[in-house]
Amino acid sequence: MKHLLSIESMDTASIKTVLENATVIKTERGDSQHQPLAGQTWAMIFTKSSTRTRVSFETGIRELGGGVMFLNANDLQLGRGEPIQDTARVLGRMVHGAVIRTFAQSDVEDFAEHSGIPTINALTDAEHPCQIITDIFTYQEQRGPIADKVVTFIGDGACNVPISWIWAAGKLDFELRIAAPKAHQPCPDLIANAINGSGGNITVTEDCQAAAEGADLLYTDVWVSMGMEKEAAQREQDFAGYQINEALVARANEDALVMHCLPAYRGKEIDEPTLEAHAETIFTQAENRLHAQKAILNWLVS
Ligand code: CP
Ligand code: NVA
Repeated sequence: MKHLLSIESMDTASIKTVLENATVIKTERGDSQHQPLAGQTWAMIFTKSSTRTRVSFETGIRELGGGVMFLNANDLQLGRGEPIQDTARVLGRMVHGAVIRTFAQSDVEDFAEHSGIPTINALTDAEHPCQIITDIFTYQEQRGPIADKVVTFIGDGACNVPISWIWAAGKLDFELRIAAPKAHQPCPDLIANAINGSGGNITVTEDCQAAAEGADLLYTDVWVSMGMEKEAAQREQDFAGYQINEALVARANEDALVMHCLPAYRGKEIDEPTLEAHAETIFTQAENRLHAQKAILNWLVS
């Protein structure tokens, strides 16, 4: 039984298989007769808001022949305190797979363990694996292999998106630089674990300019992740200056890509002219959630 619970728990060969398959799936969209989810029903259990992840998974599951039901976690008995393990044991007897967006990573792991059906992490506080697989697919589609390239993340270095980037850097041999204020940097132990034995190259700094120098990909995410809303005012102060803008892009390589997982807050983590100048990449990145996640679903059930 395969699951996609994190980049941390995914081996390099499987990541590469999914990336290669995403290219084929994107090219063959609309022509393919391949329906590996025919006869299946998948549940999507979401505790947090979503536009891209929800729509791309619902569309992708249907395109692969499956049926799908969207379940707002607060409408389930889960929202009234039914344990995740019991929810998992019930759904595991009815549906064929689950896509879960929630707070605690342990909830997704418990669901996978107790349901006995393929389970996908569609974002937790710890990781956003489907996003980073898509981002790497998008980079490689436009610029070739990511190995030995320089990826610079600007902003909240301790949230789910950069954490998934950290694990990916350890497995796919690119250089990762994270520029974040001291209080929002990833835990050093996590970085040590991610590069353990891989020879990975990950650095963390407060200096955005130095981190952007010669980068092949500049990447950012919101300053206030879902669940952090109470800290919004403090975070806006903490992250002032941690923005992708034209001056920062000028430090990167001439053909550097700019990406944002979206949603974007213009004037905060990215300015309006930079977002618009790189909109083609950023919205292709959003579209690619569909293709990459179809490749993930295909890998899970094969
Ligand atoms: N990037 C991303 O996961 O977007 P949604 O929150 O809209 O799903
Ligand atoms: N770090 C963000 C990602 C949104 C896709 C959040 O968790 O809200």
